[in-house]
Amino acid sequence: MPLDTSSRGTPLVELRDISIAFGGIKAVDHVSVNLYPGEVVGLLGHNGAGKSTLIKCLSGAYQKDAGEILVNGDKATINNPRDARTYHIETIYQTLALADNLDAASNLFLGRELTTPVGFVDDAAMEAETRKIMGRLNPNFRKFADPVSALSGGQRQSVAIARAVYFNAKILIMDEPTAALGPQETQMVAELIDELKRQGLGIFLIDHDVHQVKALCDRASVMKNGQLVGTVRVDDVSEDDILAMIILGKTPEELGVASAAAG
Ligand SMILES: Nc1ncnc2c1ncn2[C@@H]1O[C@H](COP(=O)(O)OP(=O)(O)OP(=O)(O)O)[C@@H](O)[C@H]1O
Ligand SMILES: [Mg+2]
Repeated sequence: MPLDTSSRGTPLVELRDISIAFGGIKAVDHVSVNLYPGEVVGLLGHNGAGKSTLIKCLSGAYQKDAGEILVNGDKATINNPRDARTYHIETIYQTLALADNLDAASNLFLGRELTTPVGFVDDAAMEAETRKIMGRLNPNFRKFADPVSALSGGQRQSVAIARAVYFNAKILIMDEPTAALGPQETQMVAELIDELKRQGLGIFLIDHDVHQVKALCDRASVMKNGQLVGTVRVDDVSEDDILAMIILGKTPEELGVASAAAG
């Protein structure tokens, strides 16, 4: 369904005025960003800008010092990753927590195995479900019988994404998902992200590649020294504009483009 940007309604997620400090360092300093269904919002900024720390407050890995998180307009309490899951928030890291010696299906259902009516692990059902979802997300995937150690980075990534989607993720956090991938693999993950968008998921994407951000994201929020520089629609700006935000901390106003902080 095409997104009607004139009446977008309630954001899927709102991070409002989030702050978190480590010792004396304000890693995230009064940052507000939001995300709508079917949207990819890029989080950009230099090393140490606070991107990962911000999204870790959403994934439950860190507890914010101040600020609010709203999911579908309601205040959410997220103190740990388990809490995040109850809000259908799933995180995909570049360094994937996959069990190398197990196949795709075993990884997809790791810790949440399907069982037969009498309580045995139902390998056939898990493989059938895995084939179904991989058929949708990554139709070229064939390596169902191999341990995931035999998969490429992009294929591993697709298994992790399938796991999140199978367990009903609505909000996906991807922290540099293509950082260690080659061009072809990166393209595959980009296609997966597009597919997830079409399914109505909201995605926060941390990515250092401005070209990729232009191609994949709807909006981009730029951070610098823990603070939000601004949020723009990627179609309103050039790659150089985005770089000026990242490097020089230029605000949307200074660039002469509309702020897209509200959505
Ligand atoms: N657990 C922690 N303990 C102490 N300081 C931390 C911790 N996590 C992050 N920081 C600090 O918070 C700041 C923001 O770090 P963060 O990892 O969020 O940056 P980032 O934008 O994700 O950078 P990168 O692009 O390098 O991944 C940095 O100064 C970092 O050293
Ligand atoms: Mg980071």
